[in-house]
Amino acid sequence: MNIEQNIIDEIVDKSDIVEIIGKYLKLKRSGNNYFACCPFHNEKSPSFAINANKQFFHCFGCGESGNVITFLMKYNGQEFTEVVLSLAAQAGIEIKQDKKFSKEITQQQKQHKTTLFEVIAKVHNFYQNNLVNASFAKNYLTTRGLSSEIIKKFAIGYANNTSNLLSGLFKDYLTNELLVEAGLVIVKEDGTRFDRFRDRIMFPIKNVKGQIIAFGGRVIVNGEPKYLNSPETNLFNKSQELYGLYEAQKVIRDKNQAIVVEGYMDVIAMAQYEIDFTVASMGTAITEEQIKKLFKHCDNLYYCFDGDIPGQKAAWRALERSLMLVTDIKSVHFIFLPEEHDPDSFLRKFGRNAFLQYKETKSLSLTKFLLKQLCAEIDITSNEGKAKLISIAKPYIEKIINAPALKVMLKKDIAELVELVPSALESIFNNRSRYAFYNLNNNQLVKSKKQIPKFNIIELIILNALKNIAWVVNYRLPENIDNLSPEVQEMIIILDFITTSDSPAMQDLTDLFNFQYLNLTKILHQQDQQDFIELTNQDFIKHLDRLLGRETKKMIRIPQIALKSNIK
Ligand code: UTP
Ligand code: MN
Repeated sequence: MNIEQNIIDEIVDKSDIVEIIGKYLKLKRSGNNYFACCPFHNEKSPSFAINANKQFFHCFGCGESGNVITFLMKYNGQEFTEVVLSLAAQAGIEIKQDKKFSKEITQQQKQHKTTLFEVIAKVHNFYQNNLVNASFAKNYLTTRGLSSEIIKKFAIGYANNTSNLLSGLFKDYLTNELLVEAGLVIVKEDGTRFDRFRDRIMFPIKNVKGQIIAFGGRVIVNGEPKYLNSPETNLFNKSQELYGLYEAQKVIRDKNQAIVVEGYMDVIAMAQYEIDFTVASMGTAITEEQIKKLFKHCDNLYYCFDGDIPGQKAAWRALERSLMLVTDIKSVHFIFLPEEHDPDSFLRKFGRNAFLQYKETKSLSLTKFLLKQLCAEIDITSNEGKAKLISIAKPYIEKIINAPALKVMLKKDIAELVELVPSALESIFNNRSRYAFYNLNNNQLVKSKKQIPKFNIIELIILNALKNIAWVVNYRLPENIDNLSPEVQEMIIILDFITTSDSPAMQDLTDLFNFQYLNLTKILHQQDQQDFIELTNQDFIKHLDRLLGRETKKMIRIPQIALKSNIK
């Protein structure tokens, strides 16, 4: 069984040994080294050392040493390929193999997924049975208006208030890695384990095939967080799944439309009121993948947002993400509920017909919502206001690349608003002088690659990072930025934000920080215009390394060398 050495090197290279071992052992930092009590022999004082520079570990007590792969093999008792595959997946590296081998791997991966599914299904079954005797939880669901049919349809369960409830279900609870991988059990720093979900109503999240891939757990009455979700796993990629799609898919196809809401309970309440073509994006703004997925099932999407401020923000992001995906057949609409309502409360107060009527009469098409929003702070009766509308509408119009007819209609609407004939508007749109500055910048970059001004490199990195979030996730950003130049410090703050927030709304960042050196607004504008050079991942790393004064890491061979000389 062989995976090409250079791929293994790349995987090791992209995986940070400190971060990975840090998931299992409690580490103490000392300069570039980290110490822990050795997991491979019994000891009270730490003689297990990790050298972050060399990406090796070595135990001075028992002599074990190696790299990240060796560690995981030993620690988890996994096969070499198993470790390499899971590291590759984490680092976003695709493994290309000769056919026979890749077949073997696919088999292995399939088998692994199957067992993971089985574990989750077993746990779900258990939670679901628990609900029968949990009268408090059952009452709660009843007071929220759910019938037993709906509770059954959505396979709702209950996790008792016990910290290791699942140990009754799994004899090997203390060693079962699948429970951890599925996100059902959490391992503490000291190695002890506890159930993630305690005293919560459990909503299983299914893939389109109906297999359970994750859970959302709601506290009963009060507590924080209100909803606790499974972490992302091999089976559960939050940005691609839609809660309720499995249950709703048939009706969505029949009706050729889907309603997208924000919460679990909204989907369920809608179904209770027989508006059963509803899905939820699970707490984050809807993603492109989710929109594409829904467009595979139907032509008409209705985004239904809560009437509050977060609802308004989510709507705008949904609009931005839809612009590129709508066609002249596939369209999106926006429903804004009255301020104090979400779909669940609206239905309970006004009923099914009122909701459907509200949807028919009050929903806004994509272009209507766009224009309404763009005009919101403009005095469209003045020349300046009209000019401004033309200027700010342009980037949005340009994003409509798959709906030529709709694009023409939108331009016609704008022309009417600014009282110009469409051809006059078109010629303004075609005048690129307004954008000359940005083009100039880019040409400069292309021509004189050798002496790219530092600021532009930083912008380039940020722009490429926004486009390829996975690159940043896989890059180890420095913890201590004090010694870096101020503009690089600002860049790190931005990159950090990109990786940590669920769906980064960069505007939030400009509101939050007062950047002294970087013009984030300008950078975001370039992003909208798609007006920048796209780097390769390799160049991205190289430039970033250089800015941070790091040597780009060389390939690391699996080490046999003793490390004593490197570790004080
Ligand atoms: P809401 O706070 O609007 O809750 O969150 P809700 O759907 O109205 O819930 P109920 O009616 O009080 O039961 C909307 C969605 O955001 C995600 C969940 O997916 C939730 O359904 N969310 C919210 C979380 O993931 N965690 C939280 O703590 C809160
Ligand atoms: Mn609600």
